[in-house]
Amino acid sequence: MIYLSRKEHFNAAHQLYNHRWSKEKNVEVFGPCANENWHGHNFELIVTVKGEPDPETGFVVDLKKLSRLIREEIIEKLDHKNLNMDVPFMQGKMASTEILAMEIWKILKPKILMITSFGKLHSVKLYETPRNFVEYKG
Ligand code: NI
Repeated sequence: MIYLSRKEHFNAAHQLYNHRWSKEKNVEVFGPCANENWHGHNFELIVTVKGEPDPETGFVVDLKKLSRLIREEIIEKLDHKNLNMDVPFMQGKMASTEILAMEIWKILKPKILMITSFGKLHSVKLYETPRNFVEYKG
């Protein structure tokens, strides 16, 4: 089993705010991420596919196809967007890194199977800051 990864970048604005709570509780729990006028992050997205190399190409997945898939399905929908307001698959959800990584997984998993018969999605790693990141494996 070999693991192959592609890293992409986007920046996006968001706000962490639970409308069922008071403003005070939101500030207490989410700190600056509850700021009512939004704030942004430079996200790094690392998508890892696992499998065995195709004997004809030596590839688990063609990285050009993987890169195009991630850009079309994810980056173009998130880059320079407001995660709370502009992104259809985040509507009605908390705009946390955890939830975003899980939604990215849901979109990519079936689409990766369409570009390779030798690999499948292993993980979605999403860096919100260089020090804060999540990893989702389904
Ligand atoms: Ni934030």
